[in-house]
Amino acid sequence: MSIAQKIIELFKRKEKIQTGGGQKALEKQMSMGKMTARARIKALLDPNSFHEYDLFVEHKCKDFDMDKKQLAADGVITGTGTIYGHPVGIYAQDFTVAGGSLGLMHARKITKIMDHAVKLGIPLIGINDSGGARIQEGVNSLAGYGEIFYRNTLASGVIPQISVILGPCAGGAVYSPALTDFVFVVDNISKMFITGPEVIKTVLGEEISMEDLGGAKVQTEITGNAHFFSSSEAECFEQIKKLITYIPWNNTKKATAFPPKRPKELYKIEKIIPQVPTKPYDVRNVIKAVCDDSDFFEIHERWAANIVVGFARLDGETVGVVANQPMVMAGVLDVDSSDKAARFIRFCDAFNIPLITLVDLPGYLPGVDQEHAGVIRHGAKLLYSYSEATVPKITIILRKAYGGGYIAMCSRHLGADFVFAWPTAEIAVMGPEGAANIIFRNEILNAADPNEMRKLKVQEYTEKFANPYIAAANGHIDAVISPEETREFLIHSLKISVNKSENRANKKHGIPPF
Ligand code: HXC
Repeated sequence: MSIAQKIIELFKRKEKIQTGGGQKALEKQMSMGKMTARARIKALLDPNSFHEYDLFVEHKCKDFDMDKKQLAADGVITGTGTIYGHPVGIYAQDFTVAGGSLGLMHARKITKIMDHAVKLGIPLIGINDSGGARIQEGVNSLAGYGEIFYRNTLASGVIPQISVILGPCAGGAVYSPALTDFVFVVDNISKMFITGPEVIKTVLGEEISMEDLGGAKVQTEITGNAHFFSSSEAECFEQIKKLITYIPWNNTKKATAFPPKRPKELYKIEKIIPQVPTKPYDVRNVIKAVCDDSDFFEIHERWAANIVVGFARLDGETVGVVANQPMVMAGVLDVDSSDKAARFIRFCDAFNIPLITLVDLPGYLPGVDQEHAGVIRHGAKLLYSYSEATVPKITIILRKAYGGGYIAMCSRHLGADFVFAWPTAEIAVMGPEGAANIIFRNEILNAADPNEMRKLKVQEYTEKFANPYIAAANGHIDAVISPEETREFLIHSLKISVNKSENRANKKHGIPPF
């Protein structure tokens, strides 16, 4: 065979494999409103940047007539490419090939690209669209999953790991996304569950659709297993691309800096907090009033909305923002919001992203439900994550900072580097109403007019404690600043923290209250 013929043969071989599972399967994929694995990679990466590896890998299974079946690329496409010039490792399961099911060689292709990503220090993106363990391959499929989970764990905190669920992700397969940092889902396309509707029907006699069991809305609104919701695959890819711009390639690097941009005029920080201290407001407007270009990239937007977390830039540098949301349940801390914030804080700390905390909360949510759901353990995760984090930590107390909430929201006592308070801050053990009822109970009860006396005592307590000056007098906060000064104080604090280093006692690892 001449060289020219060999090259033609190579292209023919490639083309055959690249058609995936054949016309019928492709049509089915399209009819479900899903892109093909290759189209997904193409849509996500920079034009012509994808380099594919292991195209010719074949499965080795001989059981159940599998030796007669050729599975194109063994049902998964792997390689490297770039997003806005940032390098990434990527794999995409091909549902048109045996339902994207995972056998040993399919898993080996994934683990190989995972190993590459760790060695090269680049983020890894996994696109999941699979019926789970390839049933014909038995324990070899399970082995494959185990090897992926092991690597997900070792890569955690070393390179950013992103999971995209674009089809079924069933059975133990969901544990790979669960071990990664960010999970993206698409309405009507993503389905994540451990035990599917069939099993539930058999074991429990209950009928439920895949969508209601583990669709995109369920996973972003109820469970919090997924971080980003979108209505289409195209929208999902735009979200991933944006995320990549905010995070570093690995844990030894900083995120790429952008040219600084002032916040948009639209957000007037001095007007955001209402005159009446009990009135809610959207804390995202405070974030947008201080960050570059008023561009806030929110994570977990649909879950535990009483706390807001996400990325922004200050003077061009990525920061992680954690903020109580007075608009939702007055911004209280509870089981889910503690989990949400704690996980985000650990990501930022692992990847050299400074933390900005905005405080306005009445404390932890009281109630039997919360106590029985383990608010003690979950709430402790927040304390642990803030205390453990060694990246620059800057806290601004906007309004209420009561009780345990004051301590938990990155107070000086948990190692904040700088704590500033607005003049509207109220730092106290509890709100004036509750406090007055307890400490002045006898005076109120014995008064000729108990209601009038309560009012007086609430006012007395408010004047004494519901302000930032006692905390300032004790050095618990570093400065009382006006809202207009916030951006400048944040940028200055970040600039002088670039060489921050903290020595901690040597240990193998801590034991967070999982
Ligand atoms: C082998 C599989 C497969 C699997 C699907 N296929 N899942 N082949 N192993 N796990 C094949 C089908 O036989 C079919 O092949 C093709 O993929 C498309 O599947 P359909 O069923 O036609 O597609 P659809 O109707 O869209 O249904 C998708 C599905 C369903 C809901 C995912 O296929 C399904 O329920 N699959 C099994 C899911 C499951 O129980 N997996 C094991 C989970 S246990 P043909 O040749 O007909 O086109 C697990 C353990 C992991 O994953 C443990 C790790 C710790």
